[in-house]
Amino acid sequence: PVHDARAGIVARPAVIAHRGASAYAPENTLAAVDEAASRGVLWVENDVQRTSDGELVVIHDDSLRRTTDAEEVFPGRAPWKVKDFSAAEIARLDAGGWFGPAYAGTRVPTLKQYVDRVEHHHQKLLLEIKNPGLYPGIEAQTLKVLSNEGWLDQRHLSGRLVVQSFSAGSLRTVHDLRPAVRTGLLGAPPVADLPSYAGFADLVNPSHTSLSRSYVDAVHALTGPHGRRLEVFAWTVDDAATARTVAGYGVDGIISNRPDVVRRAVYWF
Ligand code: G3P
Ligand code: CA
Repeated sequence: PVHDARAGIVARPAVIAHRGASAYAPENTLAAVDEAASRGVLWVENDVQRTSDGELVVIHDDSLRRTTDAEEVFPGRAPWKVKDFSAAEIARLDAGGWFGPAYAGTRVPTLKQYVDRVEHHHQKLLLEIKNPGLYPGIEAQTLKVLSNEGWLDQRHLSGRLVVQSFSAGSLRTVHDLRPAVRTGLLGAPPVADLPSYAGFADLVNPSHTSLSRSYVDAVHALTGPHGRRLEVFAWTVDDAATARTVAGYGVDGIISNRPDVVRRAVYWF
């Protein structure tokens, strides 16, 4: 097992801050990116959706309700769907006060603002295209923002960027548009189906609850679109014991709201 001291020589998983370091700062905000950076976390995960006037913004739910004050600012606009609000309207919202008074006034970032902050910290980005069925064309638009911000050059493509989605169709679109971009399929498809994804997905990213060593081995046995072994990033692991168990399965990455806890669990023993 990886927690055995002798395991120090085996590859250790990457640690990815889920929605930023979201146990410590409001999820999917620049503050959560900063929090990950200040804890020395190299990777951040985020969720991308689109406003009514076509701006890409970083937020998890398809509604603004849980993580902003939209209900107060725009009463009568239930159910406060992201896609029904303009970028200017969303920019007025407080996306931090719900988390704690210290974060009052924190904004919902645009994707551009978000990737610029990740770049500022020299971090790596696991970008999730969320609910692509609601946003036709979001794949091309996401790639355009990434390209404009300098994220599709060789330096970023060769190890600093993965685009993931629960939608295989969306990932296939990303792959067809920009084959050099690494992609990750969220979920745990049956082992028998895995080869059908290996043409366009570089990673398979399951919930840790559906993982086993044999599943990780089955993914690792496949070669992805870039001629490399398929990888596995597991989510969402917030305690040390589970982190060690999942690391022992041989995963390549662990996605966590408490990335510092995971890092301590799998790196320092
Ligand atoms: O990165 C994996 C994880 O983010 C997928 O689930 O609901 O947190 O976006 P969710
Ligand atoms: Ca996500």
